[in-house]
Amino acid sequence: MKILGTGSAIPRKVVTNDMLSEFLDTSDAWIVPRTGIHSRHVITDEQLEDLGTKAALNALEMSGLSVADIDYFICSNVVGEYVTPSLSCVIASKIGLTCPCVDINCACPGFIYALDIAESRYLAGKSKNILIVCAEEPTRMCDWSDRSTAVLFGDGAGAVVLGEGNNIKGVELHSQPDVQKIWEKRVLEKTPYISKEEENVPLQMRGREVFKFAVNASTRDVESLLSSLGMTKDDVNYYMVHQANMRIIEAIKQYLGERDEKFPTNIGDHGNSSSASCPILLDECNRKGLFKKGDVLVFSAFGAGLLSGVAVLEW
Ligand code: UT7
Repeated sequence: MKILGTGSAIPRKVVTNDMLSEFLDTSDAWIVPRTGIHSRHVITDEQLEDLGTKAALNALEMSGLSVADIDYFICSNVVGEYVTPSLSCVIASKIGLTCPCVDINCACPGFIYALDIAESRYLAGKSKNILIVCAEEPTRMCDWSDRSTAVLFGDGAGAVVLGEGNNIKGVELHSQPDVQKIWEKRVLEKTPYISKEEENVPLQMRGREVFKFAVNASTRDVESLLSSLGMTKDDVNYYMVHQANMRIIEAIKQYLGERDEKFPTNIGDHGNSSSASCPILLDECNRKGLFKKGDVLVFSAFGAGLLSGVAVLEW
């Protein structure tokens, strides 16, 4: 497939590190060198589906396709206000899409998992034009009195429209299942038959272990996919790495032996927006005119699961 259009939408509210230090035992001096994050966009009175809808419409407008041309819609989302219907159905109802809609929950690498599903359907002859929306509100998953997680995340939505083409050169997905590294639990409705003890547990993360997983997974995934495609790092123009932590990105850069200019980032004013991070970065870079035809983009993302994925795309 080929990316025909990109879009994104972010909440209005900007929360700086200094604003966090008004109610958390933290500081700009701790957060910036540890994460590279200066501020993040946080959902207030917006609905996540409205951000997803806006990102989708922006991508559709750029693609030149109409809603009726889209024959499959994938939404990547960890959590939203609706349990059912799926977020893809909620967004579809707002934009008038009537094609099959599916949600995936693959946490931060959700965009790459969605690309894999899209490309597989295309190669199987089942779909021609596919919409992907990654819409996430991780700030609603954290305990805002927990400084070890609350400072890391931001909300938003990113979208792409894919159509006919031979520009997705390869996708590789990996899992290393481990529930204890990043997790959150919600209590479901009571029934007369439930006797077990249950409690809501906000997002928990073993930061250092996730950090190591992220760096190892990303460098392994990138080198493995490039090698199986018969490509080298010299062929790559840009690494579009999941914006989780600037130090993770720096470590990946160092292990790959690559140059700063190949790593566009927006973590400084977005924080970690889970699966929305890669498509938001893509849309921002695209709208700035960063990419030229023929450029090779490598997407790499990692997160809860633990899952990781990498995709090589020619622009
Ligand atoms: O999307 C993928 C999911 N997540 C990630 O990619 C996150 C991966 N991990 C990380 O980015 C880093 O591990 C963190 C940024 C989360 C933490 O950085 P760290 O250098 O690994 O710090 P740490 O957790 O080892 O904590 C060091 C100290 C601790 O204090 P003590 O025990 O040494 O006294 C923490 O309590 O820093 C303290 N600390 C903070 N201090 C001020 C933790 N968070 C904060 C904070 N402000 N926000």
